[in-house]
Amino acid sequence: MTSPSEKLLLFGATGDLSQRMLLPSLYGLAAEGLLPSELAIVGTARTGHDDAAFRGFVEQALRRFVPAERLDERALGGFLARVGYVPVDASKEGDFAALAEKVGATDRGLSIFLSTAPSLFGATIDGLAKAGLAGEGVRIGLEKPLGYDMASSREINDAVGSVFPEERIFRIDHYLGKETVQNLLALRFANGLFEPLWREGGIDHVQITVSETVGLEGRVGFYDGAGALRDMVQNHILQLLALVAMEPPARFDAAAVRDEKVKVFRSLRPIDRTTAVSHSVIGQYGPGAVAGGPVPGYVEELGRPSDTETFVALKANIDNWRWKGVPFYLRTGKRLPSRQSEIFIQFRGVPHSIFDGRGAALQPNKLIIRLQPDENVRLLLMAKEPGLDRDGIRLREVPLDISMPNAFADSRRRIAYERLLLDLVEGDQTLFVRRDEVEAQWAWVDAIRDGWAANAMKPKTYMAGTWGPSAAIALTERDGVTWHD
Ligand code: BG6
Repeated sequence: MTSPSEKLLLFGATGDLSQRMLLPSLYGLAAEGLLPSELAIVGTARTGHDDAAFRGFVEQALRRFVPAERLDERALGGFLARVGYVPVDASKEGDFAALAEKVGATDRGLSIFLSTAPSLFGATIDGLAKAGLAGEGVRIGLEKPLGYDMASSREINDAVGSVFPEERIFRIDHYLGKETVQNLLALRFANGLFEPLWREGGIDHVQITVSETVGLEGRVGFYDGAGALRDMVQNHILQLLALVAMEPPARFDAAAVRDEKVKVFRSLRPIDRTTAVSHSVIGQYGPGAVAGGPVPGYVEELGRPSDTETFVALKANIDNWRWKGVPFYLRTGKRLPSRQSEIFIQFRGVPHSIFDGRGAALQPNKLIIRLQPDENVRLLLMAKEPGLDRDGIRLREVPLDISMPNAFADSRRRIAYERLLLDLVEGDQTLFVRRDEVEAQWAWVDAIRDGWAANAMKPKTYMAGTWGPSAAIALTERDGVTWHD
């Protein structure tokens, strides 16, 4: 049985993620009385703030990133009173001693949120352990990037694992904190309707798209050399795929859910040297227009030539009984025409059309689970157009729409990190990624990269504001499938 932590230690507290997501999430939870009432929050980073300066910094971030209607002056004052700060340079052992002194005893529970450059990982874990900040009451949340391939990910996992047992390691994939992603589990496992069809025999193919309109956004140093496969597919897209494809877990708990997800990752057919060319497409955006305005190309933003892919499309197969012969088409990219994350399920058509002789064409049913920006579930069904049918019967696809914000108008839409920070503080690992999952994800992704290298595949240029290189269209069209844009 885990109990809530009494303290929260936030590494990277002055960074972008902290300002935009973590601090607003913590404020939101605190304002609603959802954080343990005694929870003290200690921020740390290299910046030389003291408590007062950091509080000023936090206040500024909250005023900027929390919507005005949710910023309550009393709640803000209460939140700032919880917050303190210690500067830490991870390369200096002495700094960790000062941190430990500020944090104080950890036996009543400390949660650490660590988002740091991979190069500082080892030193930080070491510093925490030496300063006594890794004892039994301490859990650690780890934000990506946790390595850039299997070898570096193992190194990080070994370093953390030598100090924290797996039950106290919370690897973050912020997609799992999204309400709509969790809703996928409700859709599949709280309804009897879909399960009998949710397999080969019932489903023709699945598409998962996570498209973004943004470009590099000042993340040049990180993104170049990482690329879309490592930045988005290795984690977020594979997690979505696992939730779509996994067998029903016996319970909604950390062990059962993660056991089922890892089986999916291990059943992914490798895309390797022999199939990389036929099963993957990579692209890099050139100059173009997004949302009506001109934008520069990737190399122009970067200021030098680069082979980093900003777009990837894959044809994945899951080699198990349920998914035999059902392709999963995956794609993600920057500078695409719209920001949308969705899962598109195309069911198989009816085995025989009774309307053939009456001129009506049938479309197979489709289920579209839109994760963002709008959250809705849409089922496309065939219906008869009203009329006397003298010229034949006309059938048309009509949508059955559920808009989540409308269906649950009373609930506030939350930032994914609110859920994840609260689960970390309360010690629930269900929505965090286990080591065996991460390694199975990397094994699949590394084979793809190896396939690209072996075939000297380079990203093809696509115009910013389009759906990637034309080869991505050919990838599905070859199978008679059209991307759902
Ligand atoms: C991050 C990636 O993990 O996810 C970013 O590093 C990407 O490149 C972001 O923009 C997308 O997250 P969201 O929640 O905006 O879909």
